[in-house]
Amino acid sequence: MKTLTVDLPGRAYDIEIARGSLDRAGERCRAVLPRARKLAIVTDTHVHPLYYDRVRASLEGTGFECRGAVIPAGERSKNPGLLSELWEDFMEFGLTRTDAVVALGGGVVGDLAGFAAATILRGVDFVQIPTTLLAQVDSSVGGKVAVDLDHGKNLAGAFWQPRLVIMDPETLDTLPLPVFMGGMAEVIKYGCIFDRGFFDFLAARPGRGPIMGEIEHVLYTCCDQKRSVVIEDERDTGRRMLLNFGHTLGHAYELAGNYTVWSHGEAVSAGMCAAAALGVRLGVTPAGVPERIADLCASFGLPTAIPCTAEDYAAAIGLDKKGAGGEIALIALEEIGRAAVCRLPKAQLLELLQ
Ligand code: NAD
Ligand code: GLY
Repeated sequence: MKTLTVDLPGRAYDIEIARGSLDRAGERCRAVLPRARKLAIVTDTHVHPLYYDRVRASLEGTGFECRGAVIPAGERSKNPGLLSELWEDFMEFGLTRTDAVVALGGGVVGDLAGFAAATILRGVDFVQIPTTLLAQVDSSVGGKVAVDLDHGKNLAGAFWQPRLVIMDPETLDTLPLPVFMGGMAEVIKYGCIFDRGFFDFLAARPGRGPIMGEIEHVLYTCCDQKRSVVIEDERDTGRRMLLNFGHTLGHAYELAGNYTVWSHGEAVSAGMCAAAALGVRLGVTPAGVPERIADLCASFGLPTAIPCTAEDYAAAIGLDKKGAGGEIALIALEEIGRAAVCRLPKAQLLELLQ
């Protein structure tokens, strides 16, 4: 087992990476939630038949009373309507302020259940049990929880740190290939922004099989990087912003595909390639870097470019019809393994993108 601690003052928590850890969820939750009696387990329709019974059995084995809430799989479930259904369900169950919520699933379940935990009874404890690669390397760590609004993704949310993150790499075996590869985009991102050696490590292991052969190392490396950023800048006003590499343009691509054509990971892949090319034009990124990133993304079957209209770019960067909207913080690479925040007028960014 590998363990990392997110050492936030007064709210430190562990990330545990171990094969078979789903079956030890009970003892681990008991250790961090000594006063809790009831656990509301939130999961989705794909994960429920695969892992719910095992997790529930382990939790009940250490004396917790459990109740499951199963949401439809997919991004559309991250909505305020379902959030309010969860609140009512928790109250029906009789959840109290000393009880807790368990998120068992990918980033959608983690973000929704985490926000429900942050808001019910003015906040109860929650535990993340992430089951996608993206959720294991990124969304389960760091406390960003949210739902989407009609105006855009993640617009209503909170910073609400979990009490524990339990990740079992064996859950990744059941992921559909595109979902696994979408998670690889976030894995590649860590190499691009923080760690050239890790970038080269990934380049030497193209494909799901070679990565799964080293999965504990991959999860540990990504979570270690994320942990150190979160400790330094929990509220995302400084270094944490570097994690947005590829995401500004990625959001435009998600929007261009109406959130159904391109997954988050696919959009981030194309967004990193486009951001690297922009970095070259801004004089920040050395020539050759965009091609290296595109080659690595392509080796995992990820898109390196996605068509997008000026309107979708403008909407994603928050530029209004008159071209007003101030500056944007674009994350650019100074080299592979080192990122910087570049501030430029949104109108200039739109011009560069056309
Ligand atoms: P997801 O939760 O929709 O999961 C993808 C698909 O895989 C779903 O169909 C799900 O049911 C299925 N699935 C999950 N685990 C499985 C398993 N082990 N076996 C088989 N199928 C499984 O998507 P995701 O990619 O995990 O997360 C994307 C979401 O995460 C987005 O909403 C994004 O905004 C959010 N996100 C949040 C943060 C954060 O810091 N909070 C960071 C990055 C992304
Ligand atoms: N996924 C970006 C962040 O947690 O800040």
